[in-house]
Amino acid sequence: MTEPVDGAGGDDESAALRDAFHGQLGGQAAGVWAAPGRVNLIGEHVDYNEGLVLPFALAQRTYAAAAPRKDGWLRVRSVQLRGGLDTQVSRLRPPAEGGSGGDGGGNGNGDWTAYVAGVVWVLREQGHPVGGLDLLIDGRVPVGAGLSSSAALECAVAVAAADLFGLDLPADDLARVAQRAENDYVGVPCGLMDQMASMSSTAGHALLFDVRSGVVEQVPFSPQDADLRVAVIDTRVKHSVGEGAYADRVDSCERAAQALKVASLRDVAPAALADALARVPADAAPRVRHVVTEIARVGEAVAALRREDWAGFGRAMTASHVSLRDDFEVSCVELDAAVEAALAAGALGARMTGAGFGGSAIALVAQDRLDELVAGVQSSFAAKGYREPKVIQAAPSEGAGRVG
Ligand code: GLA
Repeated sequence: MTEPVDGAGGDDESAALRDAFHGQLGGQAAGVWAAPGRVNLIGEHVDYNEGLVLPFALAQRTYAAAAPRKDGWLRVRSVQLRGGLDTQVSRLRPPAEGGSGGDGGGNGNGDWTAYVAGVVWVLREQGHPVGGLDLLIDGRVPVGAGLSSSAALECAVAVAAADLFGLDLPADDLARVAQRAENDYVGVPCGLMDQMASMSSTAGHALLFDVRSGVVEQVPFSPQDADLRVAVIDTRVKHSVGEGAYADRVDSCERAAQALKVASLRDVAPAALADALARVPADAAPRVRHVVTEIARVGEAVAALRREDWAGFGRAMTASHVSLRDDFEVSCVELDAAVEAALAAGALGARMTGAGFGGSAIALVAQDRLDELVAGVQSSFAAKGYREPKVIQAAPSEGAGRVG
């Protein structure tokens, strides 16, 4: 059965986290901030090609209770995770500048605290007056499910630090800070979609983000008004090949753009695709085809949304999955099984969401067929001997901010 959406937070979570902060770090938290995970409706693996993406924020969030310190120390703890960080903010160094990995390096490199340390490091590196702070993290976004728990962590820390130190930074600047923390401190070459979704989403809307222009548009997204739901099917697998494969895809897109003498694959118009395919190395051609057709599909999907053509929207979702599976080659057997079972159970559309190689698929399904979908996905996974998947419902929620 589907689980109710939890982690939406509110006064109870904030009060409990303040108590836990006092217990683990001593003193009083100055406030509680939160940032959500996300699903992407369509526009996959196009953010690092300056494309268009359409994510929305989940109700599930990561919370950060925080207080400034006058002595320049950064102390980080988690409600769920072991370990933590105790260091002076002036000692933070990314790996490229000799920040050591592993425990005791004092930089957070090599574990979950790197996401926190990275945000503080980027803000200071950019000259913002961020000093010491105590942070207690309460992560409610499922980890490893492709729902951007890392962006939620980065963004929760970014909004907390920005508020505590009076930084006047707009949401998209904070999203870029979070992305840079992940790129340069954690060492993952991600695009900007997840951090923008976490920072800038609003309840009841999907976030149409044009990565090239930086323009964001809130697109009303209320499938429940048409008795539809977005189901998130967490395959509960994460194939280790994914990390290297992500960097490989970023690289082949960059090389293809160079071969075409364009700044990014965004510059390849659909009408020029056939010509472009003939001019890139053969192994890059399917990658280029995915990126160019996917960016076009985002436009089609948004147009379908605006005319409340949910069937059309669902078709674009499924076409996106096929392209990611066959051309971009970032799906996996579990994601394909989830999509197939969802469609067989009557979903209007279904696709993998996020980077791929495990994590979650999403499906747009009539409310009265949701149980059928859950049963279908579960029996398909059982028959194939896969781990039991987990299905939750997702509704577009508010982006990052102070919650207590
Ligand atoms: C991950 C990255 C994003 C984006 C997606 C694929 O979630 O963090 O920047 O590239 O994969 O669309």
